[in-house]
Amino acid sequence: MEERVEIRRAARALTAASVVAYAGACRIEPAPRGDAEAAAPPYQITATVEDIMRSLVDPPADAVWDAVVTEVTAAGVTEHAPSTEEDWAALRRSAIALVESTNLLLMPGRRIAAEGSRSDLPGVDLEPEQIEALRAGNPGAWTQFVSGLHASALTVLDAVDRQDVEALLVAGDGLDLACENCHTTFWYPSLADSTAESDSRPGA
Ligand code: HEC
Repeated sequence: MEERVEIRRAARALTAASVVAYAGACRIEPAPRGDAEAAAPPYQITATVEDIMRSLVDPPADAVWDAVVTEVTAAGVTEHAPSTEEDWAALRRSAIALVESTNLLLMPGRRIAAEGSRSDLPGVDLEPEQIEALRAGNPGAWTQFVSGLHASALTVLDAVDRQDVEALLVAGDGLDLACENCHTTFWYPSLADSTAESDSRPGA
C-alpha cells in the first residue's frame, strides 16, 4: 500500500516536471544575436522598386487617369467615363492594386533597380545608386511619400466605391501629385522646380 502511494506521488511529480519542461521548450525566445536567418521575415523580396513602378504602380494609375477623358475632335466633344458595373469593377481592381503596392514599397531590403541598371536620362534622372543613397539618408521622407501614395489611392478607391465620376477626377489629380512628390525628391530632383506647377505624369 505504502509503496503504491509512493509510486503515484512520484508519477505526479514527474508529470509536473515534464509540464514545466514543456512550457520552457515552448517559450518564444528572441533569436540569438547575429543569427540573421532566424530573425529574417518569411517574405521574399524579388522585384526592384523600378519593377514595382512598371508592373504594379503605373498600369493601375494609368487606368485611373484614363477612366475619365474628354475627347475633342472636329466632330465635337466626347466624354468618356465609367458607366457599367464592369467599368467600375475594373477600376476597383486597379485601386486595390495601387493601395497595396505601397506596402511592397516599404519592405526593407528592396533595391531601387537591378544590378548594373543605368538611368535612361543621365543628368536628369538619378542613377539607382544615387537614389539608394538618398533613401538610406532619409528613410522618413521615403515612408512619408509612400504614405501619401497610400492615402491618395484610398481616395481613388472611395470614389470608385461610390461610383462618383467627379470625385474620381479629383482623386486622379491627387494621385498624380503623390507620384510627383516622390519622383521630384528621389528620381529627378533636378526637375523639382520646373515640374512643381506642371502636370507631368510618369509614363504618360
Ligand atoms: C515613394 C516614392 C515613389 C512614389 C510614391 C512613386 N514612385 Fe515611381 N519611382 C520612384 C523611383 C525612386 C523611381 C526610379 C526607379 C528607377 O528607375 O531607378 C520611380 C520610377 C517610376 C517609373 C519608371 C520605371 C521604369 O521603367 O524605369 C514609373 C513609370 C513610375 N515611377 C510611376 C509612378 C507612378 C504612376 C506613381 C504614382 C501612382 C509613382 N511612380 C509613385 C519612386 C516613387
